[in-house]
Amino acid sequence: MKILLVGSGGREHAIALKLKAAPTPVELFAAPGSDAIGDLGTCLPFPVEDVKGISAWASEHRPDLTLIGPEGPLVAGLADALRAQGLTVFGHDASTARLEGSKSFAKDFMKRHGIPCAASVSVSDLHNGEAIISTWNHGYPIVLKADGLAAGKGVVLATTQDEALDTLRSFLNGQFGEASKTVLLEAPLFGMELSLHVLVDVDDNHARFVVLPACQDHKRIFDGDKGPNTGGMGAFGPIPFLKAEDISQLRDELVAPTVRGLKKDGMKANGVLFLGVMWTPEGPKLLEYNCRFGDPETQVMMQLLNEDLPQLLLEVAEGRLDRERVKLHPGCAITVVLAAEGYPGAPKKGVPIEVGTPAVTVIHAGTQKVNGQWVTNGGRVMNLSTHAGSLASARERLLEGFESVHWPGMQYRTDIGLRALHHAQAGKTVRDPW
Ligand code: AMP
Ligand code: GLY
Repeated sequence: MKILLVGSGGREHAIALKLKAAPTPVELFAAPGSDAIGDLGTCLPFPVEDVKGISAWASEHRPDLTLIGPEGPLVAGLADALRAQGLTVFGHDASTARLEGSKSFAKDFMKRHGIPCAASVSVSDLHNGEAIISTWNHGYPIVLKADGLAAGKGVVLATTQDEALDTLRSFLNGQFGEASKTVLLEAPLFGMELSLHVLVDVDDNHARFVVLPACQDHKRIFDGDKGPNTGGMGAFGPIPFLKAEDISQLRDELVAPTVRGLKKDGMKANGVLFLGVMWTPEGPKLLEYNCRFGDPETQVMMQLLNEDLPQLLLEVAEGRLDRERVKLHPGCAITVVLAAEGYPGAPKKGVPIEVGTPAVTVIHAGTQKVNGQWVTNGGRVMNLSTHAGSLASARERLLEGFESVHWPGMQYRTDIGLRALHHAQAGKTVRDPW
């Protein structure tokens, strides 16, 4: 199967490794890919936002399947451009990707379809927004969200009225350009956050979905959830204390109304939806939709899936997803991000990396090969991923991997999954305080 993979990060390298390990033989092309992905296939000189360049290449070379990793090209209409040429795509059209591309659009969708979520109001006028903040009675922090894509930096949890007003002003003043000319003011939700990925296949005639294992990301840079936010420092899944009935509740209250809503609104979907969920004392509530696989959640998912990935993706892309579940390896998977010195600020690039032969999977997220030597080339540089019978043993196995990868200034968290492990070991459920 000839597959075009759009993207270049850890998520895409993990997918590329899984595709190449599948029973179905895969000829892999990547736009733009990375040096590590280049070891598995052919990299094409198109950045992800080059919709024209990628579609021109695809039109000529006719991949059997294109998988679009990041949200940018989905929101920009790459899937539409490829489908218009009769190509098969795993990834949403721009009209469905708007669920991630516009937070106020997503919120209207949630409200219209009765999906539990935080109270919110959307503002584009400064005076109106200031008045709302001055009389805010939904509690603190006030959550301010730039409406459009802001590279994961468009959400601020303001703990004081002054901070909320300052944030509102800089957003509306164009801190993120057009993306922050509309701002969502949202009530805070408290509880346990989780990432729920759902394969979706929706058209005018059917609305099908398969829920993938619930994962948990760790957004802060330091152990104990301290320090600034990052793109994600590690993840694990499934969450050991989530029971079958909890998953059913997520399915019934969040996923099923979403998928029915897509069909009702005439929004086609052939790809993945990633629901950011807060499990509050009142039950699960939806924080946001992403129209793509999560990073680093995908690295976890690729460890867990016991499927011929090219065929599974093709089922979704061709609109013939007709099954209750996917096959999974038993147990638990974990991924830890190895980040560069300086991250999440300006990462130090060009630092040589020593890589031995660890017993865990090494995923490249921001590396480059210079004269045969791997060097750092981004904030999140590498991921170590593994899978074992339980979360505790997966954590232990992963720790062994750390001995094999090193560079000066390498940062990583040692507590990925630890809070959940303690919660489970104490016999607590998702209904106990987190
Ligand atoms: P988003 O991009 O909407 O996922 O927001 C980024 C992060 O902000 C989420 O992963 C949550 O940790 C946090 N967040 C977003 N909305 C809320 C909310 N209403 N209450 C509390 N935390 C939130
Ligand atoms: N891990 C969070 C995200 O991919 O948005």
